Amino acid sequence: MSQIIIQGGRRLEGTLTVQGAKNSVLPVLAATIIHPGRTVLHGCPRLSDVEASIRILRHLGCRADWEGEDLVVDAAHLNRWDVPDDLMREMRSSVIFLGAILARLGWADLSYPGGCELGPRPIDLHLSALRRLGVCVRETGGNLSCEAGRMAGREIALSLPSVGATENAILAACGAEGETLIINAAREPEIMDLQRFLRAIGCQVKGAGSSTVCILGRQRTHDAEFTVMPDRIVAATYLSAAAAAGGEVELQRVDYRHLSTVTAALHEAGCQITGGRDTVSLRSDGRLRSVRAVRTAPYPGFPTDAQAILMAALLKSQGATVFVETIFENRYRHVDELRRMGADISIADRVAVVTGVSSLFGAPVRATDLRGGAALMVAALTAQGETRISDVHHILRGYEDPVRDLRTLGAEARWE
Ligand code: UD1
Repeated sequence: MSQIIIQGGRRLEGTLTVQGAKNSVLPVLAATIIHPGRTVLHGCPRLSDVEASIRILRHLGCRADWEGEDLVVDAAHLNRWDVPDDLMREMRSSVIFLGAILARLGWADLSYPGGCELGPRPIDLHLSALRRLGVCVRETGGNLSCEAGRMAGREIALSLPSVGATENAILAACGAEGETLIINAAREPEIMDLQRFLRAIGCQVKGAGSSTVCILGRQRTHDAEFTVMPDRIVAATYLSAAAAAGGEVELQRVDYRHLSTVTAALHEAGCQITGGRDTVSLRSDGRLRSVRAVRTAPYPGFPTDAQAILMAALLKSQGATVFVETIFENRYRHVDELRRMGADISIADRVAVVTGVSSLFGAPVRATDLRGGAALMVAALTAQGETRISDVHHILRGYEDPVRDLRTLGAEARWE
């Protein structure tokens, strides 16, 4: 597998169009099977996780093909209800197919998704939501066998606002008789995008974006076209990159409102940021200040997916910044790699303290996970000399072509 080589020290200048959102398109791809017909997705990013979803769709008997820039799915001939272990392992979030298969067929067989690079990834909330709808779930030797017969809409109260559990519950509820109310639902913009897609194919869903989502199941669906929302974490990555490297960039096809906690931190660090209708511009002299404690939280709080990225941007800031990771147990694996580049970061349990250093140095480093890998790219832009990033398959799960995008903004980056 190739490596990404970045030569640090260049200011970033220019305009970049932000790709479609990974965390929106994955549940939307699962949702396409609810409609026994054709859906056309515009703005679908070309990511390895999207390719993994395509393999699942094809395994299930659907057609899923790129037609130019569009991804066209035809689920008319869906004829399987299982996702085998190798496809489940390729992408943890394939568990989102569970609710969609149940909505369409009434039964589903999946292997258990297990842990991942961010620590344990339980699905107890997904399963208890499905059980509320009348699904009988049998867990045997790493296998999940689910049978619903006819699901009935109910009230589902989530004990915490899990993104995946909210999505699985919404998808399953589309196949349940009557009304389902999801209480304490996750409020992430990607859930609003899933609602927008489901409405486009004829499902009745409302409330996404608030903590109560209401679904009236078993509606007649129809063919539709849909444009995937822009990726707010990719936008946060390139804003953080320009903040740290210095320069002036404009990102196009972004929703500024979804970035407010990240832009607030970058503003506090000393950047000038302006949001337009679907653009955001950032100007930075590259000399950042530390910011008040950054505590990750469910939306609209600071996104856990942007924690490593902001941390990387602040490695050379003046002063110290405290990070508190409240969502995932194991989300500081990038720290050892950043230390190899000269970063001063101490960790105690879920708290990390970043003390700004005067210089960072290019080094061979390894992407430990998707956003940890993106953090290495941000740090590399501000380091003296060359950084070689290996294990880039993690990065390609969420970034279409990071080298192309960094070069568009004037960075010295290449594949090797
Ligand atoms: C989604 C995003 C991921 C993001 C995360 C949090 C996708 C494809 N992935 O992941 O990028 O980092 O939201 O914003 O959209 N939990 C349980 N039991 C469950 C489910 C979750 O205890 O059944 C816990 C998790 O361990 C974690 C927390 O809830 O501590 C949040 O997880 P969740 O919101 O479910 O994240 P994902 O949907 O997996």
